[in-house]
Amino acid sequence: MEIKKVMVIGAGQMGSGIAQVHAMAGLDVVLHDLKSEFVERGMSTMTKNLLRQVEKGRISEADKESILSRISTSTDLTNASDVDVVIEAAVENMDIKTALFAELDQIAPAHAILATNTSSLPITEIAAATKRPEQVIGMHFMNPVPVMKLVEIIRGLATSEKVYQAIKDLSLKLEKTPVEVNDFPGFVSNRILMPMINEAIYTVFEGVASPEAVDEVMKLGMNHPMGPLTLADFIGLDTCLYIMETLHEGFGDDKYRPCPLLRKYVKAGWLGKKSGRGFYTYE
Ligand code: CAA
Repeated sequence: MEIKKVMVIGAGQMGSGIAQVHAMAGLDVVLHDLKSEFVERGMSTMTKNLLRQVEKGRISEADKESILSRISTSTDLTNASDVDVVIEAAVENMDIKTALFAELDQIAPAHAILATNTSSLPITEIAAATKRPEQVIGMHFMNPVPVMKLVEIIRGLATSEKVYQAIKDLSLKLEKTPVEVNDFPGFVSNRILMPMINEAIYTVFEGVASPEAVDEVMKLGMNHPMGPLTLADFIGLDTCLYIMETLHEGFGDDKYRPCPLLRKYVKAGWLGKKSGRGFYTYE
């Protein structure tokens, strides 16, 4: 199956990165969000990222312009009517995702694959909202998308081999490394990463060490590129909490219980880098 045009739903941190890597690989991209200001913000993030690549001499000004010219913007979901793949990177909320997939199922061409960038929600349940569950798949990118090599590909219960192969080939075309996993809460990436972050928050909550000390231990002691609390701020504390809740509910095991301090921060609106404050403060 030849994939030429993709729609990316959600122009936030993940969606804009996903749109950028597809346009850089020569595909036509429709970047969609609810409001034009969200789409504009996504376009401006991509423009800044590409400008940095030009300054570093990795791409020419003409490359930058041609990459950007492959991206069109949308606030109307009917623009999915001529795409080969939709990649949904909207908010992590099951009701929103199932409603979106049911609508996309009506709009997208019969051959189109409906992929989701969900970080932990069940692909099988999202697929069940459509009449094409064999064409629904998880395509989980890591943040920052232009830099991180992994794409975790998650098969739902009904995902066909053909669709899996098409998404694997697409990931390779983006110069990413696809890794196949099955549909269980948190898949592999967040089943392992989030309990580590949650445990780091417990060490602060219990007064074992300061956030700076926890991060320094993991950076210098384990060679992690950033400490777990910096990473949590970078991912978004609301997202971290949502993933822990998905793990806790999905496995029913208290080892996944979200730390009360994480809940408190989210309730306070301290969501990390995006809100200006989390475990650290940001300009
Ligand atoms: N967008 C695009 N490029 C970015 C970027 C961004 N937001 N942030 C950094 N970069 C680029 C920089 O431009 C730089 O590129 P060059 O090498 O081409 O110059 C490169 O990344 C390295 O950046 P820096 O030198 O400024 O900083 P660094 O060495 O600390 O690297 C990092 C930054 C790559 C983010 C690194 O700190 C890192 O690997 N952190 C961990 C990231 C991680 O764990 N991501 C997974 C999060 S979990 C997730 O995404 C899934 C989920 O479901 C929650």
